[in-house]
Amino acid sequence: MATGIKIESLECSYGDQEPLYSNLFLKIKPGETIALTGESGIGKTSLLNAIAGFIPINSGNIGFFSDHVDEPELDAENVRKDRIGFVFQDYYLIDHLTGCQNIMLPGLMGDSLGLGKIEERAKELMASLNVSHLFNRYPDALSGGEKQRICIARAFFKSPDIILADEPTGSLDAKNSDVVIRLLINTAKARGTTLVLATHSKNVAKRMQRVLTLHSKGIEEESNLLS
Ligand SMILES: Nc1ncnc2c1ncn2[C@@H]1O[C@H](COP(=O)(O)OP(=O)(O)OP(=O)(O)O)[C@@H](O)[C@H]1O
Ligand SMILES: [Mg+2]
Repeated sequence: MATGIKIESLECSYGDQEPLYSNLFLKIKPGETIALTGESGIGKTSLLNAIAGFIPINSGNIGFFSDHVDEPELDAENVRKDRIGFVFQDYYLIDHLTGCQNIMLPGLMGDSLGLGKIEERAKELMASLNVSHLFNRYPDALSGGEKQRICIARAFFKSPDIILADEPTGSLDAKNSDVVIRLLINTAKARGTTLVLATHSKNVAKRMQRVLTLHSKGIEEESNLLS
């Protein structure tokens, strides 16, 4: 099910530090591709983490909706548990698991499909991301671009409605960056997945439908670049 995100009057802070945002509003339609930009330390990672429910919020609301923003909200806990895939800048692959086993992880946690089906699904994702040859390879024998593709395959394991990607090309060269962004956009488009991607790269940002820039006072939006 395509899923949008509605952020209302959000305030977030770490401990007794100054709030990162106060009164932040943002609506992301189901299936939109969004670039989240802004200077280092402004709170891009924190916003993705708050959407994913990895960090608590002080006040306001982060809601999820299916077709129309005015519809009743979906159960946030369920959306976060099963419907969000996260692509981490630093990959967070498990060193002692192979490429395939890393992709299988989301299937091994929670409701079990059975090992055979889980491996089948991982293989299917590896094929679609052109990493089938890395089936038995451990992370320390993978390039940055290969690790990132494994990380993307893992994020797509449960066919999520929303992908949150934190600087997925931050440590990649131009060629691998292009491959990774193309994969993310194409996979998201093919599945109607909403994509929110934090980046410092203008080239990456302009490939998304909307470019949002986070400031200390709120979010600024550039015109829709694809229409
Ligand atoms: N766990 C934490 N505890 C305390 N402060 C934190 C924590 N994580 C982040 N911060 C602070 O919150 C602010 C926002 O950090 P965040 O990582 O969200 O920024 P960012 O926009 O993603 O930056 P970058 O572009 O460098 O990745 C920074 O000032 C950072 O020091
Ligand atoms: Mg960050």
